[in-house]
Amino acid sequence: MLNDKVCIITGGAGAIGRATAIEVARRGGRVMVADIADDAGEETVALVEQAGGEAAYQRCDLTDQAQVDALMDATVKRFGGIDVLHNNAGVHETDFSETPSLLELEREVWDKVVSINLTSIWATTRAAAPHLLRSERGPSIVNALSTGGLTAYPNGAAYCSTKGAVQQLTRVTAVELAPKVRCNCYAPAALDTPMLQKFVAAAEDPEGIVRSMAGTHLVPRLGTVEEVAKLVCFLASDDASFVNGATYNVDGGSLAWRGVRD
Ligand SMILES: NC(=O)c1ccc[n+]([C@@H]2O[C@H](COP(=O)([O-])OP(=O)(O)OC[C@H]3O[C@@H](n4cnc5c(N)ncnc54)[C@H](O)[C@@H]3O)[C@@H](O)[C@H]2O)c1
Repeated sequence: MLNDKVCIITGGAGAIGRATAIEVARRGGRVMVADIADDAGEETVALVEQAGGEAAYQRCDLTDQAQVDALMDATVKRFGGIDVLHNNAGVHETDFSETPSLLELEREVWDKVVSINLTSIWATTRAAAPHLLRSERGPSIVNALSTGGLTAYPNGAAYCSTKGAVQQLTRVTAVELAPKVRCNCYAPAALDTPMLQKFVAAAEDPEGIVRSMAGTHLVPRLGTVEEVAKLVCFLASDDASFVNGATYNVDGGSLAWRGVRD
């Protein structure tokens, strides 16, 4: 259970952020949804309320320090403090570039991915830390990685590099905020999200694409956002009170071997 904990979820308008917001509410936590997608953010709030929870939306471009500071102020004003910071927002260079290979990626795109995926996590952590250190409800930070941060694939130089760096930032945060605030991260493999469905639908061989994405999963399918949300809520809860500086894979076993299923 999350026992009234106040959880900030960055990227809370997106697929995993929304599923996590709903799961937080089911487990008795309260949610501040932070995003730049206002309509979808408000929709997350409505879904949390439908699930019987309490939530608010705050527009926050995570690349802007003033907006990050304003997010912390708004959360404290609305809920009285901050107990959990879920650094979930993330982007991929293919969101912004037609030429995402290592050698052809535009510098602005590299900088943008670094700013959103890595620098913003340091910025939110720094801004939330004084509040987390005051929390009496088992404060913690949960950071989104990806299996792409633990292994590499083509056309993902900025994404894979930033996700790898977030694992190290997680450890440094755990060290610097110990013993009061725990900090952990998790690495999902390919999940069945609306974005992925769109990508698959546009492919020449949709079934082949899904087979290749799920082929490394020992659990023979794509993952779901709900499966990730449950792990995030566990890491944010007092059930994980002795878990700190750790990385959890939620990847259907894909990093356990080097194979691909037929
Ligand atoms: N979906 C997957 O298969 C998968 C796999 C591994 C890791 N992840 C990671 O999980 C996290 C969430 O993924 P998702 O699939 O829910 O993505 P998503 O695109 O559905 O959600 C990301 C959210 O981040 C928000 N965002 C982007 N830039 C922002 C900014 N500057 N300020 C504030 N918000 C911003 C977007 O508006 C969006 O709502 C990401 O960090 C991603 O790298 C996802």
